[in-house]
Amino acid sequence: MATDRESSTDLIGDPPWLEGLLVDPAAVRRVRGVRRFVESDSYAQSFGREWNWFAQTQLDRPEENRAESRQTFAEKTGLGPEDLAGKTVLDVGCGMGRFAEVALSMGARVVGVDLSTAVDAAYGNLGDRPDAAFLQADVFDLPLREESFDLIYSIGVLHHTPNTREAFLRLPRLLKPGGRIVIWVYTSERRIGYAASDLYRRFTTRMDDERLLRLCKAAGPIGALYRTRPGRYLSPLLPVSHHPDPEWRVLDTFDWYAPRYQWKHDWDEVEEWFRTAGLEEIRRHGVPVAVSGRRPAEAPAANRS
Ligand SMILES: C[S@@+](CC[C@H](N)C(=O)[O-])C[C@H]1O[C@@H](n2cnc3c(N)ncnc32)[C@H](O)[C@@H]1O
Repeated sequence: MATDRESSTDLIGDPPWLEGLLVDPAAVRRVRGVRRFVESDSYAQSFGREWNWFAQTQLDRPEENRAESRQTFAEKTGLGPEDLAGKTVLDVGCGMGRFAEVALSMGARVVGVDLSTAVDAAYGNLGDRPDAAFLQADVFDLPLREESFDLIYSIGVLHHTPNTREAFLRLPRLLKPGGRIVIWVYTSERRIGYAASDLYRRFTTRMDDERLLRLCKAAGPIGALYRTRPGRYLSPLLPVSHHPDPEWRVLDTFDWYAPRYQWKHDWDEVEEWFRTAGLEEIRRHGVPVAVSGRRPAEAPAANRS
């Protein structure tokens, strides 16, 4: 938890509405404009590097007809402007803010939290928006008041923590009664496809981040080859991103091979977590494994710690 204290009038950069969501608004350790509730990015250091190296690669660019983050958000959450407009929303593991930007564009007020210095990239991208706030904090110890949020989403995050289920179970209490939560975690359906990368990850997760980045850059042309018909058959042997954008390919490949934790789950397992949390209206969304649920309007969600 933060140790340095400042008067709340000294706070620059946080929107005034944020204080009402914090457990202890007076607890402030601020570095580079962002409130920090952890001392370091811990096991998520590679993410801090990744999102500061590639701070804007995945931001949508409507002027260039690039809307992949918006499309991915819709596929993985099933949410649209009607669900977000005027809502107070928590983005758990916001990275550099690509999905926070989408939620903001749909009229939400967004708090983005991330364990790593990725929040610096998010703050750089979106920190000037009056409806956005970013905190460096751990999903296992969020400095946020219970029953604060209409909606929580977490895309591609919880499987990168030491325990996906336990990380998830920290979240429903932060929902207002009747609020919704949606998560997307890696699927365990593609076991064969994962065999080679699971083997390589034994080495890559121990590598220096800069060295791994150089390897991922070198693998860029291989990813381009996988976009051809003959190349497709080679990809299970050396799985690397085959995204059409070369920079995105490097980022995606690094994102796959660097993180210390990378758990995979199936639908039944994830739905069980939602039931354990006392959530209802549990739904599967378009991409495995994306699941949402609603906190009952009356009864409180399971209050685990
Ligand atoms: C693959 S990135 C996804 C970022 C963003 N949601 C996106 O899809 O662009 C996973 C993020 O989870 C964050 N993360 C990992 N463990 C976390 C934890 N315990 N608490 C909060 N964030 C965490 C990492 O720092 C990283 O930014």
